[in-house]
Amino acid sequence: METVMNTKKNNLEARVSQEDVVKVYNKMAGIYDIWALLTETRARDRAIELAGIEDGQAILEVAVGTGLGFYEMVKRNPNGTNYGIDLTPKMLAKAKRRMERSPFSNYLLQPGNAFNLDFDDNSIDLLMNNYMFDLIPYPEMDSIIQEFRRVLKPNGKLLLVNMTRAETPGSRIYEMIYKVSPKTMGGCRGIQLQSRLEDNGFNVQTREYYQQMLFPSEVLMAIK
Ligand SMILES: C[S@@+](CC[C@H](N)C(=O)[O-])C[C@H]1O[C@@H](n2cnc3c(N)ncnc32)[C@H](O)[C@@H]1O
Repeated sequence: METVMNTKKNNLEARVSQEDVVKVYNKMAGIYDIWALLTETRARDRAIELAGIEDGQAILEVAVGTGLGFYEMVKRNPNGTNYGIDLTPKMLAKAKRRMERSPFSNYLLQPGNAFNLDFDDNSIDLLMNNYMFDLIPYPEMDSIIQEFRRVLKPNGKLLLVNMTRAETPGSRIYEMIYKVSPKTMGGCRGIQLQSRLEDNGFNVQTREYYQQMLFPSEVLMAIK
C-alpha cells in the first residue's frame, strides 16, 4: 500500500494542455525525427516486432506523429487497411509526405483525437499508440483507454510505448528537464500504464523497459 501511495505521490502531472500540445508539436515537427531516432527507435521497433502484424489486418495508429512507425506497419500490411490519426497538423503533414514517397497506397492519414475515435466498435485488429499518454493528464487517461477498447475487436491487440519513469539514476535527467521546462521535453513525462490498462479490462501480456541515450521508455502489449 505504501509503495502504491509513494508511486502516486511521485507521479509527475501533465503540464502542457492539449491546446498547447498542438502548438508545441507544430513547432517541433521539423526536428522531431532527429529526437526520435536518437532516443525512441529501439522501443518503437520493439513494439512493431511485438505487434506480429499479419498481412490483411485493420491497423490504427493513434498519434501517428511524423509517421515513423506507421511506415513500418504499412510495409508489413500491404494487403490490409492502415489508418493513422493525429491532433497536430504539421506532424500529420510530415507523415503524409513520408507515405506519399512510399510505394504504398492502402492507408488513410487524417486529423483525429484519441478521446473520440471516428471508428466503429470492434473494428480494429491492432491499435498502436506511441509517446502520447505521457502528455495526457492522469484523470483523463481512462477515457482514452476505454476508447481504444471500444474500437478494438475481441482479442484485438494494443501496443503502447510511453516515456516511463527512470529505472536508472542517469535516466532521471529527462524528468529533471521536464520539471524545469516541460515544453523542452515536448510535454512528455515518465508514466507507467500497466496497472491502468488492467484496471480498464485489458490483459497485459508484456511490459518491457528500454533506455536509449538514457531516455526511458516502456513497451506494453495488451489484449482486449
Ligand atoms: C511525442 S509525439 C509522438 C509521435 C509518434 N507517435 C511517434 O512515436 O513518433 C506525440 C504526438 O501525440 C499527438 N497527440 C497528443 N495528444 C493527442 C490526442 N489527444 N489525439 C491524437 N494525437 C495526439 C501529438 O500531436 C504528437 O504528434
